Amino acid sequence: MWTSFVALCVLFGRIATCVPSGDQIRSDTKAGLDDETRQYIEALLERSHVPSLSVAVLKGNETYLDAFGHAILPDTLATPDTLYYVGSCSKSFTAASVLYALNNYNKAHDAMLTVESSLQSILGADFAMPDDYATSHATIKDAASHRLGLPRCDVSYGGKGFTAADAVRSLRHLPMLAEFRDRWSYLNLGYTVLQQVVQTLSGRWIGDVHREAIWEPLGMDSTVVNLTDALELDRAGKAKFSYGYSYNPLTGSFERQPWSDSELVGPGGVITSVKDLAKWVRAFMEGGSSLPFSPEDFATLTTPIMVQNAGQPFGHTSPLLYAMGWMPLTYRDERLILHGGDVAGYSAIMAFMPDRQWGISILTNSDATGGIAVNAVFLKLMDDFLGVEQSDREDIEKSTTDRINFALVAWQASRQTFFPSIPDPPVPRSLPVEKYVGRYWNDGFREMELKLAPPRNDTPVRNRTEPVLRADWQRWLNMTLELEWISGEQHLAWGNTEVWSLLGFAVPAEFKIGDDGEVKSVGIFLEPALIPQGTMIWFDKTDGDDGESSQQGQDL
Ligand SMILES: *[C@@H]1O[C@H](CO)[C@@H](O)[C@H](O)[C@H]1NC(C)=O
Ligand SMILES: *[C@@H]1O[C@H](CO)[C@@H](O)[C@H](O)[C@H]1NC(C)=O
Ligand SMILES: *[C@@H]1O[C@H](CO)[C@@H](O)[C@H](O)[C@H]1NC(C)=O
Ligand SMILES: *[C@@H]1O[C@H](CO)[C@@H](O)[C@H](O)[C@H]1NC(C)=O
Repeated sequence: MWTSFVALCVLFGRIATCVPSGDQIRSDTKAGLDDETRQYIEALLERSHVPSLSVAVLKGNETYLDAFGHAILPDTLATPDTLYYVGSCSKSFTAASVLYALNNYNKAHDAMLTVESSLQSILGADFAMPDDYATSHATIKDAASHRLGLPRCDVSYGGKGFTAADAVRSLRHLPMLAEFRDRWSYLNLGYTVLQQVVQTLSGRWIGDVHREAIWEPLGMDSTVVNLTDALELDRAGKAKFSYGYSYNPLTGSFERQPWSDSELVGPGGVITSVKDLAKWVRAFMEGGSSLPFSPEDFATLTTPIMVQNAGQPFGHTSPLLYAMGWMPLTYRDERLILHGGDVAGYSAIMAFMPDRQWGISILTNSDATGGIAVNAVFLKLMDDFLGVEQSDREDIEKSTTDRINFALVAWQASRQTFFPSIPDPPVPRSLPVEKYVGRYWNDGFREMELKLAPPRNDTPVRNRTEPVLRADWQRWLNMTLELEWISGEQHLAWGNTEVWSLLGFAVPAEFKIGDDGEVKSVGIFLEPALIPQGTMIWFDKTDGDDGESSQQGQDL
């Protein structure tokens, strides 16, 4: 909805395991939520299959902290100090650290850089877009407001040793979705570019800049952007680090997702607690007098730049806008500023109403189903605060659940959707399947090595005895891509994280055979946003039968 990665989602069946009740630990400083709200949340977590949810509600100068369920199944309870990945809520920190780094750079170098400065003037020749005009004109503000014109390309970047600078250098090789500045198109890579801006201007790791600019001044001492640092907080007994889960409705079980460990933290790398995140929300509510930011800086971060072309998140709202790491809108005539976050295993939201001195942070250790709980708790608490009549409230739990169910059904029906008229028997492949095995290359998406493998048991391929062409990809998350043969050169590409999650996708793929009768390339609709215009991502086969391996692009 208002979040990060391509979420193809889930929830059906009614198998409830776990999800506890009763003995949650409340804030040491403030009472938790009232009994009616607590009972509502406990029942909601059980219905929606979410292991734990921690919440902070800000009302005026009061902060109410509470936590529900299990940070680690089956018996480690969540508390307001439990650590979670916050996904795209990280973007607000990246945007703020850009302002901090600009201010410091200007002071030290007597310069006048602003958010209107061009990315090329800061990043040099590393920064180039597929389009020359965009290369010379794109600014910090364009990257921060998702108007660079690129589709997400979330499986193009990441993996061991892949740096933010590598991501910046890869942009020129990616397809465009729209003209530069023509429309809003959510782009995690834009925030990796901003990470590199912070690191270039400051000469430091972005995590150190976040700490100096934000976390230390606000006393956010359980907030990090590095997995090792989070494990250290846990080891030292400062804060329990939750496991992230995906609920699998097909098996009725929770599957643990590996923690992501990437250097590309600008779009979504922050790990924190609701208690710490509430301090960040409060800084925006109160204008942040304890921070090295001026009121003008806060205004820059939250002033709308783009209208999102993504519909409304729920009823009674204005269109959703985008500022810099925050989404402003109005809800029932109140100004509301929010951002959500979804990564494998986690779902989050932070929000505030600046004119009402009300704010919230909610973190869960479940993707997709976590989104149901996050949306429902957020809207309920906001409606409670605004005194909205029960009869006038939207059942966002139902609409989010329906959306997830629909996505699951659509995922399972992908074969029929994309290939409605396959001949029976199918047209044979041009070449024996072994000829399709090998290394392939695309300058933007880099290497893909296809091997013959049995299908994953959680992929709904039709013929389970026929091997698939499988790539194990180390990207921002480790993932697998499995090409199921359909007919002739047509395949269906199933993509998922290593542990099945609701973030999976299925898209058509097709091989091309060259004049020489050998496999030449494979095209895959890796960018679903480009399916309507028929643009596949093409990978050329780089190892011929003569065993010669191409070295092209090795220096990306
Ligand atoms: C919190 O707000 C209340 C009501 O506005 C005020 O009376 C109280 O002094 C405030 N407390 C602090 C610690 O600022
Ligand atoms: C991703 O896969 C690589 C290679 O198998 C492994 O070393 C790494 O730990 C994996 N990363 C995660 C987060 O699971
Ligand atoms: C996290 O920090 C550790 C220890 O400083 C370091 O070795 C590691 O490379 C960092 N991880 C990333 C992804 O930057
Ligand atoms: C499934 O694949 C195997 C191996 O390619 C093949 O022998 C078999 O006929 C296929 N079964 C069906 C029902 O298509």
